[in-house]
Amino acid sequence: MWQTNLKILLVVLGTLGLYTWVAGAIPQVASEVPEELTFSDDVTADDLVMAGEQLFAGAGTCTACHGTGTRAPNLLTDHAGEGTIGQRCGTRVSGLDCKAYLRASLTEPAAFVVEGFAEMVFQARAFSDAQIWSLVAFMQAQGGEVTVTSDDMERTDDAAAGTSAPAEPSGDSPLAASQTTDARVLLQENLCLSCHAIDGAGPPLGPNFDDIGSARTADQIRRGILDPNVDAAPGFDAMLGMMPATFGQSLSAIQLEAIVTFLAARK
Ligand code: HEC
Ligand code: HEC
Repeated sequence: MWQTNLKILLVVLGTLGLYTWVAGAIPQVASEVPEELTFSDDVTADDLVMAGEQLFAGAGTCTACHGTGTRAPNLLTDHAGEGTIGQRCGTRVSGLDCKAYLRASLTEPAAFVVEGFAEMVFQARAFSDAQIWSLVAFMQAQGGEVTVTSDDMERTDDAAAGTSAPAEPSGDSPLAASQTTDARVLLQENLCLSCHAIDGAGPPLGPNFDDIGSARTADQIRRGILDPNVDAAPGFDAMLGMMPATFGQSLSAIQLEAIVTFLAARK
């Protein structure tokens, strides 16, 4: 009985996730998402938090994992009695204040892994520096004080911060259309790898890309990308509705074929 309930819950959450995604991904609606995240010197904490909230619930895909309960620690509500993310961020790693910890959790997710979870797989490179900072501000606002200011952004832009994740200096949306036809780059840019594993690593929300060509023809793969919600990949019934159905619009025909050829050859 509880299994049925769990399935229904997952499907509902998946559908909700899809709508959140679609709202962030369809070009006409995307104007609500700050495309050009360039903040002026007098940017307020509220501006940052608002921009971060839109990314968090939309194109950032954070809610694909955070908010489903077991896949990742809750951020907006309590996790393990430690409070919301804005309350617990300052006590995670000694020597790192809340702001530094939250930034590191996105740019260097392997540096500290919350107990009981697999390492977060996250493509910080798809995000601009300003977008990372707005996400940090939004998370601080969940029970804590927002200390991100325009100074942070200038400093990291100037020095490239010396961090391991060179966030792109442009303010482009992570879903910005690109011209590349390199399948691997496309999988990164389109955030496919926030749900699919490749090269033996990554999240298991959708089928593993390493051997996806052995059980499926190029036609099936193409259909799976264009119409992901028509039927579920074998073993992924409960996840039906989670994969965005917008790639048919956001990828060019050449890009789609590059991905299909690449995946069909992975056996
Ligand atoms: C593919 C699943 C997935 C996605 C997408 C994802 N996360 Fe995570 N996240 C995790 C997992 C699993 C952990 C716990 C393991 C760890 O700490 O690396 C985590 C940990 C975190 C933590 C540390 C929490 C704590 O209690 O210290 C923060 C902060 C965080 N994620 C923020 C984000 C934000 C912001 C986004 C979207 C931009 C995001 N995550 C997208 C899976 C995900
Ligand atoms: C938010 C998570 C998510 C993202 C992002 C995502 N997928 Fe998926 N994908 C899934 C899930 C869940 C399934 C299994 C359910 C289904 O078939 O719809 C799936 C299924 C698939 C399948 C198998 C279809 C079949 O029937 O065998 C292919 C191929 C695929 N995805 C490719 C991609 C590509 C390429 C991208 C990026 C352009 C991408 N996915 C982005 C979650 C995602």
